[in-house]
Amino acid sequence: MRKEEVVERYSRVFPRAARVSYAPIVGVRAENARVWDIEGREYIDFLADAAVQNVGHNNPRVVKAIKEGADKLIHFTFIYGFPVEPLLLAEKLSEISPIEDTKVLLGLSGSDANDGALKLARAYTRRRAVLSYLRSYYGATYGAMSVTGLDFEVRSIVGELSGIHYIPYPNCYRCPFGKEPGSCKMECVDFIKAKFEGEVYAEGTAALFAEPIQGDAGMVVPPENYFRRVKRILDEHGILLVMDEVQSGMGRTGKWFAIEHFGVVPDIITLAKPLGGGLPISAILGRAEIMDSLPPLGHTFTMSGNPVASRAALAVIEEIEGMDLLRRAEKLGNHAKKRLKGMKEEHELIGDVRGKGLMIGVDLVRDRETKERAYDEAKKVVWRAYELGLILAFLQGNVLRIEPPLTIEEEVLDEGLDRLERAIADVEEGKVGDDVLRKIQGW
Ligand SMILES: Cc1ncc(COP(=O)(O)O)c(C=O)c1O
Repeated sequence: MRKEEVVERYSRVFPRAARVSYAPIVGVRAENARVWDIEGREYIDFLADAAVQNVGHNNPRVVKAIKEGADKLIHFTFIYGFPVEPLLLAEKLSEISPIEDTKVLLGLSGSDANDGALKLARAYTRRRAVLSYLRSYYGATYGAMSVTGLDFEVRSIVGELSGIHYIPYPNCYRCPFGKEPGSCKMECVDFIKAKFEGEVYAEGTAALFAEPIQGDAGMVVPPENYFRRVKRILDEHGILLVMDEVQSGMGRTGKWFAIEHFGVVPDIITLAKPLGGGLPISAILGRAEIMDSLPPLGHTFTMSGNPVASRAALAVIEEIEGMDLLRRAEKLGNHAKKRLKGMKEEHELIGDVRGKGLMIGVDLVRDRETKERAYDEAKKVVWRAYELGLILAFLQGNVLRIEPPLTIEEEVLDEGLDRLERAIADVEEGKVGDDVLRKIQGW
């Protein structure tokens, strides 16, 4: 099949609800941080398959685990039976969990994990209200969609769960309160207190849903003491802290869980994306008393704890431990950020470089003073990067998402950064035409 034919047939059979278009890459083979398309063209993957391939595409340890698992037992539901693989995985997850006395629920995707966390928080506290953040993303199932603070269009059409209240995320580059870091009084924390004085009854609030670093909002990193201060307020009122580590977890930021950077232990953690090395599996980790608050079948699926996916997840964890990928993510992340900050000196289009480990955002602006988002330019950079053999995406319309596998070779990372700089320079020099804007949608 030709690339154009695949793309055309996609549009005939898949509705738009399933997809966001960036570049027409028909991937057919992948290895670590490289992807080959149907025409044999090679790309460097700075997206790690939407932060899925933390241990690299087709990691040999993961492939071996999948093959051995498929040979032995493809599925044996853990709802009725006792397959060993999900047991070993859950025990391992509770070992790496920062939460004391962790119990584990297994599912299929980040969305269902967040739905489960919502049910657990409401069941345990016997409260209904939930706080969440503007511009947050928790997924596409009803519960996850309802706590999500992005894309209100779909919710206005299909309806949503009630009792969800939004607060601004602490964003020091684009402060929602118009303040500057250093001189602010953490108005973002005070806002929560104010919320409890008027709109929301604190003693009727089950949980605050948070991403430790807001991914799809454009890799927004909160100030270091933010979550500690928020947790104090939550504790005063018996409100649970739910941390969505679907994108930021499993070593992406240089720690197993990104919240570990901020000195806070949450009550519930959700995981998915990189957990299965590319197979669909999610997990909810939480204190036993919270996890035991739902009745039988309160949150489980026929395919939960699938033995092959569980084996793959165990292999991912072993790979992170065995290859010391937490340290590697930190080291490569520091290197990438240093190079990107160097590029900022040369390229006016770059307004901000931020992130932890290999979860990095490059905020493109039209004007460094006003910080006007450079929407068209971001599209052009991503398209030009594709032409140069680099898989890249943007978030919020203008923030480049740099999330390569943690296993990326240093020279491949540097080659990818070279291609990125070239793409930025080409856009600045007007070498990428406006016709590109019609070809790429993004979000
Ligand atoms: C932070 C976060 N939570 C949840 C999800 C939803 O996960 P999934 O698409 O696996 O359902 C995503 C996906 O982008 C995410 O980035």
